[in-house]
Amino acid sequence: MNYEPIKKPDIGTLSVKPNLSDYKKLRQDFRWEDIRRELDGLKGGGLNIAHEVIDRHIKTALKDKTALLWEGKEGESEKYTFNDLYKLTNRFANVLGGLGVKKGERVFTYMDRTPELYVCLIGALKAGAVVGPLFSAFGPDAVKDRLKDSKAKVLVTIPRLVKTVHEILGDLPDLEKIIIVNRRKRPYELKALEIKYEELMDVALDAFETVKTTNEDFAIMHYTSGTTGKPKGAAHVHQAVMGHYATARYVLDLHPDDIYWCTADPGWVTGTSYGIFGPWSNGISQVVYEGGFSANHWYSVIEKYKVTVWYTAPTAIRMLMKAGESVVQKYNLKSLRYICSVGEPLNPEAVLWSLRVLGLSFHDNWWQTETGCIQIANYPVQDIKPGSMGRPFLGVTAAILDENCEKEMPPGKEGNLALKSGWPSMFRTYWNKEELYKSRFKGQWYITGDRARMDEDGYFWFVGRADDVINTAGHLVGPFEVESALIEHPAVAEAGAIGIPDPIAMEVIKAFVSLKDGYTPSEELKRDIKNFARKKLAALACPREIEFLPGLPKTRSGKIMRRLLKARELGLPEGDTSTLED
Ligand code: PRX
Repeated sequence: MNYEPIKKPDIGTLSVKPNLSDYKKLRQDFRWEDIRRELDGLKGGGLNIAHEVIDRHIKTALKDKTALLWEGKEGESEKYTFNDLYKLTNRFANVLGGLGVKKGERVFTYMDRTPELYVCLIGALKAGAVVGPLFSAFGPDAVKDRLKDSKAKVLVTIPRLVKTVHEILGDLPDLEKIIIVNRRKRPYELKALEIKYEELMDVALDAFETVKTTNEDFAIMHYTSGTTGKPKGAAHVHQAVMGHYATARYVLDLHPDDIYWCTADPGWVTGTSYGIFGPWSNGISQVVYEGGFSANHWYSVIEKYKVTVWYTAPTAIRMLMKAGESVVQKYNLKSLRYICSVGEPLNPEAVLWSLRVLGLSFHDNWWQTETGCIQIANYPVQDIKPGSMGRPFLGVTAAILDENCEKEMPPGKEGNLALKSGWPSMFRTYWNKEELYKSRFKGQWYITGDRARMDEDGYFWFVGRADDVINTAGHLVGPFEVESALIEHPAVAEAGAIGIPDPIAMEVIKAFVSLKDGYTPSEELKRDIKNFARKKLAALACPREIEFLPGLPKTRSGKIMRRLLKARELGLPEGDTSTLED
């Protein structure tokens, strides 16, 4: 179905500077050097993300502006100014200094979205550490893989999650200290390596001189899934803040008086690039809601804090659509003026729904953990084509390349989505996997792994992944991770995981399993395998469905042919099966 473009003036305040309607001219005039000049920099010239998001505001009128409006899951509300965060992050940097953390060492967090999470991440950046925020729903294997690969020295966590860490401690020889944040004062007795956050913070000093980092020093890593192997740590440098700053301003259209809410958790790249760095480097007040999704809670957060700019994800939008319009009517959402979405294809119906129900259309944008910041976007003052990801960000060149990733394809043709390397926030390596990192480039192009096409107006349209990675509710899951967890079950001989369509989460995981001799397929065994997987993987990575097969289709070299499993599941043509084992 073809949808008419939505004309631009649907967003109320259009005092956007510069005027983004002149996209071509803006592209010509855009210089990353100009963005750099708008930032502050450390004495001596280098960038440090923490300095740009907090410290530089202390020298200005923003010092006493509210930076964080926190809504706890138990109904608490707290406010922090930039100055409050300045002092707290200084204290935490001093805490890490006291523990002997040196520039470049890894400090990970594994906790809920409480103010301490934000303090610890920014404080650790000030101390020159490389931070790694872990999603609090991760199971022991996911946490172990990440802490082990990064050789994290310090972990900050909470009493509810620390038992997961105890299970894997034997595999983490590099972990020296575990800091326990206990904001709700649960009874807790410290175990080996553990120290109390509150006690350390009470005695730490408010003053700290940010460690001199260069533009190219590593700052943050987020693990991301590929088709094979364990998740890889996409490592970003301090200079990435230029990308966060510029895109938050131009794409998310943040103005000084905005109240902004990004619903993503800092365990994922959206939750740091746009849930910390983008808004705060622009001096914007932002809301953090600790609780999970519920239509009523989410709308009440918007109403209570008078959120003006909202950045969320398609699965959440589809869940809101499912919750129905009667829920929307209960709340006053008039404060909203601009809404954006990222992470998975945003179906055109969702854009039309928001236009009808909220009076605003969602602006879809596209990027990846590896790219560090938004690369393709629907801008505020630009017609939206519902279903399209929009046009490349001003300082970014995107193209559709042919099958060999050599030639650019003309408009209308599907191919590999690629970006010309060189934007400041692009990842600099996969931690410990330099060869894999290099394999993602072809000449001047970074090959994204997505299939897409570009239309005559330069709008990009997502087609699908070029690999077997599953995107479920906006989170990438590597089939290999799921399969590795499943084959640890005593009954499982082989496993193959694919994504199957789902009306809300876009894809959910289905696993095909062949059993070892002596085991008989049964519903009870399916349940047992699912429960087993749930203990090892994050809930979102667990198979929703399991199907037993006598054997899995494999290539002659023994690789499970997921493509074939998927084609058979969806009733699609099986394609080339010449490598199929006899
Ligand atoms: O396949 C694309 C999909 O999500 C992938 C990136 O996921 P991740 O590294 O977890 O980054 C999340 C931060 C955005 C992409 O390769 N994706 C992301 N945005 C969109 C999208 N697919 C379609 N439309 C989008 N707007």
